[in-house]
Amino acid sequence: MALHQLTSFTLGVPNAGETAAYYREFGLTDEGDGWFASRDGGRQLHLVTAPTRRLIELRIGVDNSDDLARAASRLGVLGVEAAADPAAGTLTTCDQTTRVQVVLQVTPRLEQPAAGSTPYNGPGRTERAGTRAPGILRAGQVSPRKLGHVVIGSTDFDATTAFFRDGLGLQASDYIKDAGAFLRCSTDHHNVLVLRAPVVFPHHSSWQVDDIDEIGRGAHAMLAGRPERHVWGLGRHHAGSNFFYYLKDPSGTFSEYYSDMDCVPEDQVWTPEIFEGARGLFAWGPPPPPSFLHPDDLTALMAGLHSR
Ligand SMILES: [Fe+2]
Repeated sequence: MALHQLTSFTLGVPNAGETAAYYREFGLTDEGDGWFASRDGGRQLHLVTAPTRRLIELRIGVDNSDDLARAASRLGVLGVEAAADPAAGTLTTCDQTTRVQVVLQVTPRLEQPAAGSTPYNGPGRTERAGTRAPGILRAGQVSPRKLGHVVIGSTDFDATTAFFRDGLGLQASDYIKDAGAFLRCSTDHHNVLVLRAPVVFPHHSSWQVDDIDEIGRGAHAMLAGRPERHVWGLGRHHAGSNFFYYLKDPSGTFSEYYSDMDCVPEDQVWTPEIFEGARGLFAWGPPPPPSFLHPDDLTALMAGLHSR
């Protein structure tokens, strides 16, 4: 695969100061210039001020300039323009429906240091003897390892999916029937999820943590005294298999802690499935609240769109 990483995204929000404080608390490092870094992935979130919340840019790492040329050719077949900058090693294009700018950039591959496996006791299996579980002994703030995926609602689901899949070259991992496309540009099950929506909006970003205990510890800390941040969790998704917990930032955009996502090696065949009903959303956990698929501000976002 030529594409190898979802490198970063730029999120426009009307309340950048408040939102920045949220992502510091979420465990990202504030670099002081609008950028926020994860532990392994570096600078991966760029917060800027915008009239309403919107996904402004995604950056995707590729191996070399041939990959940029292939993407430009595929986009050309779709009738989508792309601007190459050979000196910068980039190809810049834009999804016509969502107006999200996507920059493919020649970038070294992310080599994550392997986190040691968490010892769990089970029937006839003692991995942890004579000590309490790491999940209750850990102290300090949860620190996301890397950006996993970004989810965008599109008013033209087919066109936006075609842009990312057929134009940019992301691979399809699974679909939610007529309503969702899980696409990958790395060995993660999904890095971009396109959702059918009545208005273009950023649904969520998702951040990898070490294990399920880190999801629980992170959510617990974020919810202390701030129950309004709760969106949905704890649960395990069917598509991608990951454990999840969703929280809401002050702009109304969701942020997810995840662990244990399905991995698809580049040389391995993975047959996408089409999920319907609950399996499109989750394998187990509390039922998703209606505001998960239709966030509370969608009507206001649609009104804003129509008044412009
Ligand atoms: Fe997610």
